[in-house]
Amino acid sequence: MSHRPTQRPAISLTTLAERKALGEPIVMVTAYDFPSAQVAEEAGVDVVLVGDSGAMTVLGYASTVPVKTEELLMLSQAVRRGLKTPLMVGDMPFGSYEASNEEAIRTAQRFIKEAGCDAVKIERGGTSVERAAALVGAGIPVMGHVGLTPQTATALGGYRSQGRTAERALQVLHDALALQEAGCFAIVFEAIPTALTEAIMPRMEIPVIGIGAGPATDGQVLVFHDLLGIYDGHAARFVKRYASVRDEMIKGMSAYADEVRARRYPEEEHGYTMAPDEIARLHELLREQTGEPFTGGLTL
Ligand code: KIV
Repeated sequence: MSHRPTQRPAISLTTLAERKALGEPIVMVTAYDFPSAQVAEEAGVDVVLVGDSGAMTVLGYASTVPVKTEELLMLSQAVRRGLKTPLMVGDMPFGSYEASNEEAIRTAQRFIKEAGCDAVKIERGGTSVERAAALVGAGIPVMGHVGLTPQTATALGGYRSQGRTAERALQVLHDALALQEAGCFAIVFEAIPTALTEAIMPRMEIPVIGIGAGPATDGQVLVFHDLLGIYDGHAARFVKRYASVRDEMIKGMSAYADEVRARRYPEEEHGYTMAPDEIARLHELLREQTGEPFTGGLTL
């Protein structure tokens, strides 16, 4: 398998701030393993998030809630091995940072030390604002996440867009500003009305990455499996499919199964050869050992 080395300089927090200042869109995507990281690298993506969405896309959980720190650390380590250029952000799972600043710092340090993440992401405003400030104080870059926050989707009334009444919109605005004030280097706006994003953007000094938040943000993020058409579950309104990789995978797998069953695979070109004199000697050795002519499948 070939991997085209990239010449691009590594993306840093400063690069992202510069992109915002210049009005150059930031491209972010999720990745969960070595090959998906390599794809993001080769496609020239700026930021790779090892999202807790991996709980659903690669681990098969029904939501992001049950995924454990250890599981996301393992996915992050694989992603790290496939990335050189993009900024790599590790998603802190539900239950790994809410209880105290100390717990948040301990978990975040694992993502940095054990998985090589450049930064971590946490969800919500509320107590997460204090956690974000504590993490930044401990020298850990933090990405915030407001609007639809899947870890607490039940409390939000399900997987639905947020901030659609004036009061709820104001809450999203306050959360975003509080996380900015707490020192987050960037923030995700998920599933909020385009008009709300447009109202908040003039007050955002840090890069805002949108997912279902309209075109006014400084960048966009999509889930790897959604944008490539690998995941077969329900796709949110904001998902655009740029490929149908799952269909291609099923097509390829079915062709393989058909050929094995029809004994059309493997063909001669897929086998290894043995020099004719070695085959003859093997026949001789087998004859000596058994005292009978060898009748197996080896042919000269
Ligand atoms: O886990 C995830 O994939 C995310 C993105 C949708 C931002 O949090």
